[in-house]
Order: sequence, then C-alpha cells, then structure tokens
Amino acid sequence: MSDFSARLALLRKERRITQSAMAKELALSRQTVSNWEKGEIEPSVGVLTRIAAFFGVSTDYLLGYETYTTHYEGKYQQEGLYWGRKINRLAHEVLRLMPPERPLRLLDVGCGEGQAAVFFARNGYHVTAFDIAASGPEKGRRLAQAAGVQVDFFQADLLRHELAGAYDIIYSTDVLEYVPPRNRERVMRQFREHTAVGGLNVFDTFVEKSFIETAPDWEVGKEFYWQSGELFSHYREDWKLELCEESVFDCDSAGIPHEHCMDMMIARRMV
Ligand SMILES: C[S@@+](CC[C@H](N)C(=O)[O-])C[C@H]1O[C@@H](n2cnc3c(N)ncnc32)[C@H](O)[C@@H]1O
Repeated sequence: MSDFSARLALLRKERRITQSAMAKELALSRQTVSNWEKGEIEPSVGVLTRIAAFFGVSTDYLLGYETYTTHYEGKYQQEGLYWGRKINRLAHEVLRLMPPERPLRLLDVGCGEGQAAVFFARNGYHVTAFDIAASGPEKGRRLAQAAGVQVDFFQADLLRHELAGAYDIIYSTDVLEYVPPRNRERVMRQFREHTAVGGLNVFDTFVEKSFIETAPDWEVGKEFYWQSGELFSHYREDWKLELCEESVFDCDSAGIPHEHCMDMMIARRMV
C-alpha cells in the first residue's frame, strides 16, 4: 500500500483546492478524487502522471517512494552562508535561560549550515547537530573547524531518526513545518522523552493565518503549516513554558516581500 491517499489529500489542502476544483482541472469526477483520498482506489499510471504534473511533484513523491530531501541541498553546496551569520533570538534565549555552567548537551535538529550549532559550541555547549541535506552538516564541519570548536555533525531525517540518550537542550528553528501533521505526535514525544529533567525544548514554526498568503518559496507537499497554539499544546503537565509567543513579521526570502506568522516556544522539563 503506497502513501498516495495521504499525500494527495495533504497536497490538495496545502494548495487550498477543493476536491471538486481539482477534479474539474483534471477532467475527472469529484467522487474519484474522494475515493483516492479515502484509499479505496488508486489512479492508473497515466492519471498519476497528470496529478504529479498538476501539483509540480514527482510520481515517486506522490506514491511516497521518493527519498525525502529539500531544495536546501543545492543551496548549501554554494559558496557563502545561505542563512548568513545572524543568530536566531532563540539561541540567545538559551544562553540566558541555561548558560553552560556545567557541560550541557545540546541537539540542533535541522541545523542547516550549522551556524547556530557552531555558535553554541563556541559558547561552551557540547553540540550534536543534524540536517536532512548532507551539504548542511558538511559546511557546518568546515565552520566548526575554522572556529576551532568541536560539533558532532551528521546527516539524518528527523522523521526517521531515533534519538538516543538525553539532551539538556533540544533546539530547532524554522524546521518543524517540515513535519507533516500525522507525524507530529511521535516526533514531539521523542523530543520530550529525550530531554533531561531541567532541560529545555526550544522551537519555532510557521503558523497558518487566513489573512496571510502562502510564502512564495514554501515547499508545497513538504512544508505544512501548524495551527495557532498547536506547538505549545505538546507541552502540558511536567513542563513549564518559559517563552510562548506568536508574531507576524515581514520577510523577503525568494526576493518577494511577504508575511509570516510564527509560534516560538521554550519549554522546560520540570519532572
Ligand atoms: C529553513 S531551514 C532552517 C535551517 C536552520 N535551522 C536555521 O535556522 O538556519 C530548514 C532546514 O530544515 C531541514 N530539514 C527539512 N526537513 C528535514 C528533515 N525531515 N530532517 C532533518 N532536517 C530537515 C532543511 O534541510 C533545512 O536545512
């Protein structure tokens, strides 16, 4: 059984297209689209190719067979730092809330080119960092070497990677939108369970707002908006919210001015 029905429904909802509108575009009946999404039938190869073209994805992606990666793989292979050297405000909050007065183990999930991981290592944390795009950790290793610090960088997919041991801080910025809704419960539980008592989970992610258009460089089918407050809802009993914020801000990634809404959270494990 392929992932077709789930991937089709997610792609369609991400594009905010109704079953009827999609059926009309592809000259099909709405009932056919509905039956696909229920997993009752699958399309022929010819129709699958048309659906893939319609959404701008590969047929392997639609069927769930494509190795998951992101367009960042190529971007990180280029000279210079795609994300620049600016350090996210949340990283400074980590220093404020949990300075490395003793050896603290920090995990940076979806570390990109590793600029935050190196920042933490320079400040005295024991840092492990991974990203699905192999070229990110590769660049991170060079940054760490140039800064004269040690970071354990590796390539891994956060949807499949099993964490081992406990971290004092699990940090991830601008990454959780790559976790499809159906994987969130498991991924967030893993983060909570692999955090030492007294430790922090430090995350931000993009939130859907009806008055904000989807960003021009949004990776449809790979990125999924969170709902307002959804991130915080994973941290209830036994956790204290040290920071819990929602903000709307301007952005011009891809060279096109647009807006984002983001939820930011720092939660401390109390028990
Ligand atoms: C917007 S960038 C943010 C990078 C970095 N956290 C930063 O703030 O500079 C998103 C990163 O998430 C990574 N990513 C996306 N899906 C992932 C996954 N399933 N597992 C690990 N990393 C992933 C991408 O390769 C990319 O480097």
